[in-house]
Amino acid sequence: MSTIIAPSILAADFANLQRDIEIINNSEADWLHVDIMDGMFVPNISFGMPVMDAIHRHSKKPLDVHLMIEKPERYLRAFKDLGAFQITVHEEACPHLHRTIQQIKELGCKAGVALNPHTSLNTLEYLIADLDLVCLMSVNPGFGGQKFIQTTYEKVSRLKELIVTRGSNCLIEVDGGVNFETGLKLVDRGANALVAGSYIFNSANPAQTISDLKKKLAEL
Ligand code: DX5
Ligand code: ZN
Repeated sequence: MSTIIAPSILAADFANLQRDIEIINNSEADWLHVDIMDGMFVPNISFGMPVMDAIHRHSKKPLDVHLMIEKPERYLRAFKDLGAFQITVHEEACPHLHRTIQQIKELGCKAGVALNPHTSLNTLEYLIADLDLVCLMSVNPGFGGQKFIQTTYEKVSRLKELIVTRGSNCLIEVDGGVNFETGLKLVDRGANALVAGSYIFNSANPAQTISDLKKKLAEL
């Protein structure tokens, strides 16, 4: 399976949101990654439902929704109705994570769990077989454009082992500080999906950047 590329709309120009969504529509990107931040779980507020609705109306790519919010179970249906094909919640925000994952699946969405950089993979041992995706945060969530945390490489390798041991079909996504260099190393260790915000949107030609990355990853 080829590597999934998920540009993060957080790095788009919000004054030209439709233009930037169309750039992604006309690219080889697989998903559009949508970061929802509540200013509580993370120290930043991104955007909410009206912007999500606008993204949904224009995007031709499946919407990969990353909820960096407290009590995400309150908003699962709302994000499903706003076009999410996949909803990822944080392990650190969900005391009843198993239940929350079942709720996402009952809505007909793919279900993912995100882990902060310090969170151990052990927390997923008894849930991994139920998951469609694990998102390893390679920065502390809340902001785009941060520096990649190097211990993520080892975490990807160990997550891959856990997935194989437990016979899970879940995908490994990595989010934060992903660029050409870190992306190649992550995929080499078993990552299936790469989220990239500033690397793609700050480049001179985002569609070309995505295409170059996909081409290089296909050679691995
Ligand atoms: C960080 C977000 C990321 C962010 C990635 O909290 O979850 O998806 O947009 O941005 P870059 O690729 O710039 O690190
Ligand atoms: Zn994200």
